[in-house]
Amino acid sequence: MSVDSLGSRCSRITGFYNIPLEERLKIVKEWAQLSDDEVATLLNFGNLGRKTAETMIENVIGAMSYPFAIAVNFRINSRDYLVPMVLEEPSVVAAASNAARMLRENGGIEAEAARQIMIGQVYMMKVPSPHYASMKILRHKYELLDIANSTNKTLVSMGGGAKDVEVRVIETRRGPALAINLMVDVVDAMGANTVNTMAEAIAPYLEKLVGGEARLRIVSNYAIYRVARAWVRISPESIGGRDVAEKIVDASAIAEADPFRAVTHNKGVLNGIIAIALATAQDHRAIEAGAHAYASRDGIYKPLSRWDLDSEGYLVGFLEIPLQVGVVGGSVKTHPVAQIALKIMGVKTARELAEIMAAVGLAQNFAALRALVTTGIQSGHMKLHARNLAILAGAKGELVDIITEQMIKNGKISFDYAVQLLKNYERTST
Ligand code: MEV
Repeated sequence: MSVDSLGSRCSRITGFYNIPLEERLKIVKEWAQLSDDEVATLLNFGNLGRKTAETMIENVIGAMSYPFAIAVNFRINSRDYLVPMVLEEPSVVAAASNAARMLRENGGIEAEAARQIMIGQVYMMKVPSPHYASMKILRHKYELLDIANSTNKTLVSMGGGAKDVEVRVIETRRGPALAINLMVDVVDAMGANTVNTMAEAIAPYLEKLVGGEARLRIVSNYAIYRVARAWVRISPESIGGRDVAEKIVDASAIAEADPFRAVTHNKGVLNGIIAIALATAQDHRAIEAGAHAYASRDGIYKPLSRWDLDSEGYLVGFLEIPLQVGVVGGSVKTHPVAQIALKIMGVKTARELAEIMAAVGLAQNFAALRALVTTGIQSGHMKLHARNLAILAGAKGELVDIITEQMIKNGKISFDYAVQLLKNYERTST
């Protein structure tokens, strides 16, 4: 282990990325006094495989598995889907499946994703006469598009590529800056790499054209053109009656009126969306950053979905969210499980994946609101929690349900109580 001159543990480790994985693990083992069992746990690469793990990120010392589950019952755009979900939170998959069952009985969910436009940006500073310069850039738009498109002939041959340019002058605390946005149809890729390359390619041309210095050349994760929408119409009888429907609309209105609630409301939407993003190895940070910015686009943080009663008394729900997802390239291609997830959904295009994600986000939101305005969220959570404890305590087969129900009935949900119940049951049955 590395120690500094005072004998303290030192995290300054040169060339950590260059040494073999086992060496790195040895350093961390000593640092944290990991046991041999803990080291063995880290070294279990599961279905990712060591080679893939090491090619995905730097300084790898192991891997970490999450459960891979299937949400059932989904009917989206008149097609049935099994939806893979990866996450750590109990109840989400069950809630999504339950909501999807109710929604399919009402004809299913409709969804539509827009053209897959990502924005690549160049920010320039010290540009003389920035407003004049922005006109000049627009006059040379086609040269810029040609330079950008020369970096990715394959994308262009598929009908994608850089399509348009926008220029704004923005005021920063370091003086005026030019923001040049390149609109790129990335077709089936998430597109960050594609547009980063394009932004870097056009920057020298821009500097030559208008002077000044390019500072940042990077994708914007505020993917406002890459919006996916999902909507449903549900008969109140099928979800517990008019009263429940009215209360769901109340919950929607509360979220519109108060950001404290809107954030949690949107977290529920993202529960479903990010679970699919993880199963398909998407850049979920990009999705979350984009979604929250979109929720604030009017200057106040708002819910991404809305629920109303229509003139015939049906509950209607609508979700709009920017989704930057891909089905080719990046970790979607390298992670073997992501490929399986796409195969389970039978998804071939980024657009279809975005439509499924939006539909699941809406269903997840519906499930949360319905639970919140009826039994409350904890009863479902506690049921699953009790079940997990029963299994952890060693219950098997039908005993899992028996122990779970007893814990709930007696209002005592704990590991110790599960063990005690199990012991009692084993004693009385022998
Ligand atoms: C919990 O993960 C998600 C909810 O809080 C969402 C919501 O409150 O709408 C239940």
